[in-house]
Amino acid sequence: MNPSLEVRWSCLVSRNSDVNPTATLVEIRGLKKSFDNQVVLAGVDLDLRRGHTVALLGVSGSGKSVLMKCVLGLTEPDAGSVRIDGHETVGLGQTERLLLMRKVGVLFQNGALFDSLPVWQNVAFTLLSSRRVSRGCARRVAAGALTRVGLGADVIDLLPGELSGGMQKRVSLARALVGDPEILFLDNPTAGLDPVLTGIIDSSVAASLEHLQAIALVITHDLTSAQRIADRAAFLSEGRIVWEGATGELWRSDLQQIQKFLRASGSHSRHRAG
Ligand SMILES: Nc1ncnc2c1ncn2[C@@H]1O[C@H](COP(=O)(O)OP(=O)(O)OP(=O)(O)O)[C@@H](O)[C@H]1O
Ligand SMILES: [Mg+2]
Repeated sequence: MNPSLEVRWSCLVSRNSDVNPTATLVEIRGLKKSFDNQVVLAGVDLDLRRGHTVALLGVSGSGKSVLMKCVLGLTEPDAGSVRIDGHETVGLGQTERLLLMRKVGVLFQNGALFDSLPVWQNVAFTLLSSRRVSRGCARRVAAGALTRVGLGADVIDLLPGELSGGMQKRVSLARALVGDPEILFLDNPTAGLDPVLTGIIDSSVAASLEHLQAIALVITHDLTSAQRIADRAAFLSEGRIVWEGATGELWRSDLQQIQKFLRASGSHSRHRAG
C-alpha cells in the first residue's frame, strides 16, 4: 500500500481514548435504493451513536439487509449519504474503504462462511488476507475469538460443513469480532436457533460489545433478543425508518405497522400481560 495513504488513514483506524462518548459513529441520510422498478429504500435516516446498540426491525422483505449492504458499500445506493466516524463512504475508493472498514465487524444473514476453509481460517480471514500477520498469530487470534463465543479448540480445524447450524452462527460471530471492531453489523445472528442457543449468542454479543466498547446495529426478528442486546430500536417500513426509540417503548407505539408486527410475533399480548 502507498505509505502516505497508510499514514493518512491510520487516524481513521486507530482508537482514540480521548473520544466524545456520545459521538455519532454512523450517520445515514436520505439513503435510497431501488431494483428495477422496486423501491426498497426510499430515504433512510438513521444514526448509530457511541454507547448504544440499535435493533433494526421490520417485516421480511422490508429492506433491512439491503440497508446494511448499502452502509457497508457492498451494494451501491442510488442516493444519500453514509458517514462512518465522520467520513463520507458513498463513492469512496476501494483501498480507502478497506482501511475504514477495519473499524467494522460484520455477520451476514447467511453466515457467508467459506466451505473449503477450516474454521480458524474463516475466522481469521481478514487478518490473513489484508494484514501483515503470521499464520501462527492469526490462528491464535482466531482461537481467542472462538473462545469469546463459547467454542473450543476442538472445532478450529473443522470445515464449516462439519458444524451444526448453531456452531456455524458462532463461527460467523467470532469472525465479526476478530479485528476488535468499534462498530458491528449483525444480520440475524440468532435466526433459526433454539431459545437456549439464542440466549447464548445474545450473551456473547452483549459481552463482546461491552469488552470491545463497541456499538452495533443488530437486525433481528426476535424481540426477546432485541431487548436483551439493544437499548434502542428502529423500525423499517415502506423504505423509511418510521419509528425509533428505546427498545422497551416499541410496545407503546400506535403505528399500525408496528402493532401488526408485534401481533404477528406473538409479543403484543405477552408484553401487555407481563
Ligand atoms: N440484488 C438484488 N436484486 C434485486 N432485488 C433485490 C436484491 N437484493 C434484495 N432485493 C429485494 O429487496 C427487497 C428487500 O430485501 P432484503 O433482503 O433487504 O429484505 P429483509 O428486510 O432483509 O428481509 P428478511 O427479514 O427476510 O431478511 C426484497 O424484495 C428483495 O427481493
Ligand atoms: Mg435480511
